[in-house]
Amino acid sequence: MRLDDTCRWSRAMLSIVANAVALSLPLSFVGNEAAFARAPVQTPVLTASAIAVADKYSADAAQQIFNEGGNAIDAAVAIAFTLAVTYPEAGNLGGGGFMTLYVEGKPYFVDYRERAPAAASRTMYLDGKGKVVSGMSLVGEKAAGVPGTVDGMWQVHHRFGRLTWKQVLTPAIQYARQGFEVEPQLQQVREAEEKHYEGKTNFSRYFGALKAGTTFKQSELAQTLQRIADHGGREFYTGRIAELIAAQTRGSKWITRHDLQQYRAVWRQPIIANWHGYQVITAPPPSSGGIGLIQLLKMKENLRSRFADVPLNSPQYIHLVAEIEKRVFADRAQYLGDPDYYKVPVAQLIDEPYLAKRAAEVNPKAPSDTRSVQPGLGMVTAQRVSRVTANERAETTHYSVVDKWGNAVSNTYTINGYFGSGVVVEGAGFLLNNEMDDFSSKPGVPNLYGVVGSDANAIEPGKRPLSSMTPTILTRNGKLALVVGTPGGSRIFTSVFQVITDLYDFKMPANEAIAAMRFHHQLLPPNTIFWEPYRPIEGELAQQLQTLGYTLERQAFNGDVQLVKINGDTPEPVTDPRKRGVARVIR
Ligand code: GLY
Repeated sequence: MRLDDTCRWSRAMLSIVANAVALSLPLSFVGNEAAFARAPVQTPVLTASAIAVADKYSADAAQQIFNEGGNAIDAAVAIAFTLAVTYPEAGNLGGGGFMTLYVEGKPYFVDYRERAPAAASRTMYLDGKGKVVSGMSLVGEKAAGVPGTVDGMWQVHHRFGRLTWKQVLTPAIQYARQGFEVEPQLQQVREAEEKHYEGKTNFSRYFGALKAGTTFKQSELAQTLQRIADHGGREFYTGRIAELIAAQTRGSKWITRHDLQQYRAVWRQPIIANWHGYQVITAPPPSSGGIGLIQLLKMKENLRSRFADVPLNSPQYIHLVAEIEKRVFADRAQYLGDPDYYKVPVAQLIDEPYLAKRAAEVNPKAPSDTRSVQPGLGMVTAQRVSRVTANERAETTHYSVVDKWGNAVSNTYTINGYFGSGVVVEGAGFLLNNEMDDFSSKPGVPNLYGVVGSDANAIEPGKRPLSSMTPTILTRNGKLALVVGTPGGSRIFTSVFQVITDLYDFKMPANEAIAAMRFHHQLLPPNTIFWEPYRPIEGELAQQLQTLGYTLERQAFNGDVQLVKINGDTPEPVTDPRKRGVARVIR
């Protein structure tokens, strides 16, 4: 069977699923193993498969799936469900994300971002005086969007998976039922976050026992995963799990059965741009990440004479990159939002002449006055705030997967902050996200990441909040070259940019590129460079940047880039030394 045939078959199956749901047929029918399409057998083009993932349990799950004959898509779905068990601070069933795929030489993108429930409204997080109520979009049920992860995984597996749905869920069910040994980092994160939920949510009742070295079992979550395995992904949206979610949020009149029934992940055209002989395949809106990444890469390219002989991460290098970032974040605040609700000018924002003009605005000697940096396409209504204290945390998780047949998955998914809203769905055992904070609660007021938004990202029922997640794949002459991504909120695309330029402009080995210093600027707070605890900006470098006019701010977290680079026909997976990830080649 050719891929096109498979896609047709899958499309037919999807409509059967939709009809079955509409006709209220038993869900066991649509979850029937025999009903699944099977991806065709391909010829190996790489010496091995490879993964870079956030923890050792998801690495083992992927290995099991590859050993059973699965492809990158099967492994990716198994990883997502496993991390929902073993990496509860960011892995999830109750959140959403983006997946960029390269399958049989073709690029794809799945948007399974959360949506605002029907009960959402533009001013819901404002008090009677029009002020944002602190914390309301971060903690508790009303911080949660309608989750998309399960439908995203269901659709992707349905279209491109080779193993059965039950097979790819098996590792996650085992980890939930039999437990897994808690790593010290997970206990630290739990301790750091628990105080936000005290007296407000049921978090501690479910996750208070996360202690390093102990075995942590999640029987309700095991049941939930088993239901999804037995009845298919739509069980989450129309079956018992949907009932439990609706029951959990009934008191606050929030996510309803109808919201859940309506939820569908969306296949979108990825953003594709040529850069240095590579095709960069990355995330379109509602992510700002893909556009931001392309803008950064192309403006740097336009400024190659300015960058010539400037050493990596020297004061002048950091200054030039910050100047570019200023312009990217000015555009982001004004033009980016859910494309189903707002016409995002994607083509104009990554247009070569536009980016050449924007690059020419960069002041090579000193930081441009923040107020002078406006969105570049006109319609200048961007809001301004004076000083923002960014409450940065290391959110979200990313993994990169390549199979020996040359297919790849770059997946970033999230419940937003660590442990999301802190609300666990009783009886179902998983956390709900706090993705509503990624909307602009009020244009001009910064979110969790200190990022300011405009009307394009105002709250509306059914809308997806703007994201920075940037799962990215690079190809060269149709062959895989790199699969990369990271968590980090608004730092995501500036981090992916730095890793890509370290690899290809500075020709660094992949392990050095991933470990190198990363920094971040985002227009506001003015002239502020954020640095990571892992690689501090200090000493003479700090002094020189301060002399240039920059303020330096330590952000509370380190990133967690996961990449697979393909050298000839050999994949090289690399995990970020900053966290507890695992890179593995699987033969
Ligand atoms: N919630 C993080 C992001 O979507 O970028």
